[in-house]
Amino acid sequence: MGGKTILVIDAGTTSVRAMLFARDGTCLGVEARELAQSYPRPGWVEQDAAEIWTSSLACARAMVERAGGAERIAGLGIANQRETVIFWSKRTGAPLAPAIVWQDRRTAEMCAQLEEAGYEAAVQAKTGLLLDPYFSASKIAWALANWPDVAGAGDDLAVGTVESWLIFKLTGGLHVSDASNAARTALMDINAGRWDAGLCDLFGVAPRTLPEIVDCAGRIGETEAFGAPIPICGVAGDQQAAAIGQSCLSPGATKATYGTGAFVLTNTGAEARASTNRLLTTIAWQIGGTRAYALEGSVFVAGSLVKWLRDALGLLATAEETEALARSVPDNAGLYLVPALVGLGAPWWRPEARGALAGLNFGATRAHVARAALEAQSYQTHDLMTAFAADGAEWRELRIDGGMAANAWLAQDLSDMLGVEVERPHFIETTALGAAMLAGVGSGLFATLDEAAAMRGRVDRFAPAMAGETRAARLDGWRRAVESVLN
Ligand code: G3P
Repeated sequence: MGGKTILVIDAGTTSVRAMLFARDGTCLGVEARELAQSYPRPGWVEQDAAEIWTSSLACARAMVERAGGAERIAGLGIANQRETVIFWSKRTGAPLAPAIVWQDRRTAEMCAQLEEAGYEAAVQAKTGLLLDPYFSASKIAWALANWPDVAGAGDDLAVGTVESWLIFKLTGGLHVSDASNAARTALMDINAGRWDAGLCDLFGVAPRTLPEIVDCAGRIGETEAFGAPIPICGVAGDQQAAAIGQSCLSPGATKATYGTGAFVLTNTGAEARASTNRLLTTIAWQIGGTRAYALEGSVFVAGSLVKWLRDALGLLATAEETEALARSVPDNAGLYLVPALVGLGAPWWRPEARGALAGLNFGATRAHVARAALEAQSYQTHDLMTAFAADGAEWRELRIDGGMAANAWLAQDLSDMLGVEVERPHFIETTALGAAMLAGVGSGLFATLDEAAAMRGRVDRFAPAMAGETRAARLDGWRRAVESVLN
């Protein structure tokens, strides 16, 4: 293996993975581990922080071995599930409580009360986010109020999102968070690039428990966990990393990642554009202290819907089967699946909403349910496209990735329902690729992200081909189904 390689840890919601990349973007190896999910009460989602760490470490070790040793690695890049909060002891490095996952809805009432009290406009102006249990701040407030081990830790308490936890463990005590992850906590002033004292006050979070906010690329830290030192050179939230991996590097470029959830980001360059249509404003990356921003539409349930059809309902043997099932029927037989299993995210933001399967009839088969699950992704993306356009961010094309994007039927349906060209890279792990690009810049292999974009490989294209009236009828059916869960 000639030349230095880049190691990436992609700590997602349902699995953690490590990958090894060559400088030209070739993926030289992957090691993955599933992550256990715990649902202690309806609407609650927790994970074991220790497992996130040990699984990440085990996967990374396998890739270091593949590289031929830590000396062969130019830098480590990290991408991670965002908003999920972890509480640990600065002294021992041990978790003090379960990780509260981004999907967790336990603070729905707290957020509703703050909204009623009139705080949303100020929160949105500073953070670009809305008052929803999705973001970290209300989860931290809840833990401080309900978990004595967290509340009683005092100066020993460290709070952070997943990248912050992994960096602490990798470095033996460095407590930092990159700007793209910090932007998702609802505690950061995204224009000033620092924690906001007023927001920390509002949620009762002591700033000394929070990490220092740093760039997404550069010499962030160094780990000795792999025999020889490896510099940590790139860090970003997984959705921002995917935008980078899709080369959404200039204003207007848009990507949609269909992983556990579906997340659409449009690059808005140096402008932190405020949404008037219930989208989020977020930091895409920060390098050399300069920030690029994005508008984001966050959909909570995408691949997890297929997983639920497979594991909870036993309707599918494999997720891949949905493609053949969707193709096996000429239409949806009038079925619409509204995947509000953990409430609805953008543009509705209704944490209390629950899912529905509308239009049931004796002509409906398991193939139609599978097809309705895929169609739901197109409809949700369509709702986002409408909101983005209303915010002045029209999509010229959409770059898709994530596990579900491997489904060619879905890629075509997206293009048909959106009426724009859909582009899908052959290498679908764009989240990891984006982290590798950041680490490539941070380690000096590349001077800029634009230069690092050479790592992105070939793409497939899908062009819209559906008749206008079919499209309109389907959108109409979807609208009625969504209204039934909103009312
Ligand atoms: O905001 C949540 C997001 O980061 C989760 O990503 O890839 O686990 O669906 P994913």
